[in-house]
Amino acid sequence: MSQPVIICVDDQKSILDCLQVELIEALGDEYIIETADSGEYALALFQELINENYDIPLIISDCMMPNMSGDELLMQIHNISPETFKILLTAGTSRADVVVNALNHANLYRYMLKPWDKGDLALTVYEAVKSYFKNQLLEEQNDALKDMNTQLQERTLTLSQTIQDLKDTQQELIHSEKMATLGQVMAGVAHEINTPLGAIRSSVENIATFLNQNLEELPTFFRLLSEESQQYFFALLKKSSRHKTILSSKEKRQYRRALIPQLNEQDISNATTIADTLVEMGIYEDIEAFLPLLKTPKSQEILNTAYQLSSLNQSTQNIITASKNAAKVVSALKNFVHYDQTGKKIEADIIKGIETVLTLYQNQFKYGVKVIKNYADFPPIWCYPGELNQVWTNLVQNALQAMNYKGTLKIDVSIQYNHAIVSITDSGMGIPDDLKLTIFDAFFTTKPAGEGSGLGLDIVKKIIDKHDGKVTVSSIVGETTFTVSIPNYEK
Ligand SMILES: Nc1ncnc2c1ncn2[C@@H]1O[C@H](COP(=O)(O)OP(=O)(O)OP(=O)(O)O)[C@@H](O)[C@H]1O
Ligand SMILES: [Mg+2]
Repeated sequence: MSQPVIICVDDQKSILDCLQVELIEALGDEYIIETADSGEYALALFQELINENYDIPLIISDCMMPNMSGDELLMQIHNISPETFKILLTAGTSRADVVVNALNHANLYRYMLKPWDKGDLALTVYEAVKSYFKNQLLEEQNDALKDMNTQLQERTLTLSQTIQDLKDTQQELIHSEKMATLGQVMAGVAHEINTPLGAIRSSVENIATFLNQNLEELPTFFRLLSEESQQYFFALLKKSSRHKTILSSKEKRQYRRALIPQLNEQDISNATTIADTLVEMGIYEDIEAFLPLLKTPKSQEILNTAYQLSSLNQSTQNIITASKNAAKVVSALKNFVHYDQTGKKIEADIIKGIETVLTLYQNQFKYGVKVIKNYADFPPIWCYPGELNQVWTNLVQNALQAMNYKGTLKIDVSIQYNHAIVSITDSGMGIPDDLKLTIFDAFFTTKPAGEGSGLGLDIVKKIIDKHDGKVTVSSIVGETTFTVSIPNYEK
């Protein structure tokens, strides 16, 4: 950096010499002291030095000069370099208008009368130079602060972009996990819908066979029946249609075994076949009323026809039950998938969500899971219901896996201090103490490769965090409880 320059301007050479000497005395040799004997020359010199990047902390100019007066010069200098300190010198009395003009338009620092006091000049010059560099330092610091501020703003912008990206990624993660869960749920549901469809198909086949083979023979059959036999026939049908319980093979065997000796006692031929048909029709108690019918030679034919007609009735019942079951699963599936992501909390029935998930998982309970439900009466809760379904799905699935699909699954739902509290307890293997925090980490799994991604509980936590809620775990072998608490408020 080149030395700073101070410029002295006066049309009298003796004054210039004097100024130069005194300034060197006052400031030492750190400064270059330049002189100019006219306003025009001073202006050109100033411009040249500025162009060459010199620092010019101070200019001292005589006021009364030919062509360009001191105040005019300082005004022009001010336009080029407002930060340079300006001192005006004058001989004789001072003129207020000149001073005010220079103050307003050139930011005049001092006005000194000739002859000046040496000490006064030294002090004034010294202070002007000091203030100049102080201002410069402040300006530099200010610039640095501005730079920092700009950088900070840029960083803030990048950070908030990163946060947004993270939020998007998280939303995508939740979404793709939902899709994966949905895939698993679908596999179960497919089974759950297939079973009633199978029942419906076989019932319909049953009805079709009957209609093809027996319908034409029915009028003849009834014509040949005596009045009395017809009454027995309809009594049989009535009794059979009243029987609603489905018997296990063991029960059927037991009833058959009880019936056969009863029939043999009455000398009824084909006791075994007749006992079979009666039990199939659900008639195994109070059969005394039918004994006269069973003793007639046509008993077998009447019984068979009654059986076929009653199984027609049974098939219709089966179809009704099976379609109800299928409809229940389909509606649970619709509930599960339906909640569109409006991104806004809505008031929803938490228990309905849990029941939806349980319905979708019911085929996995069949092989030995006892489900105990303790539901308190509940108002609708402000929540993201579609995402909560994912929470219940993951917790129920973990519970089932932990007890290898055999044991007790307990679901408690209550409301405490305006928080919905849902606990899901399984009787599985439990979680070791040192893993109780780690299990919530993304990708942590103890399941064999391909079986668990380790995302279930991470997603659970993210979704519960989104609700400003909490998820905790307590576990000993044979009893693991995940408890979710969700505050009930709109925002
Ligand atoms: N009810 C539970 N009983 C015992 N251990 C559990 C239970 N729930 C979770 N864990 C443990 O926590 C781990 C992490 O569970 P998380 O649901 O995050 O992943 P995952 O079930 O392994 O895989 P994913 O859910 O992605 O299929 C499990 O691997 C298991 O070790
Ligand atoms: Mg899991």
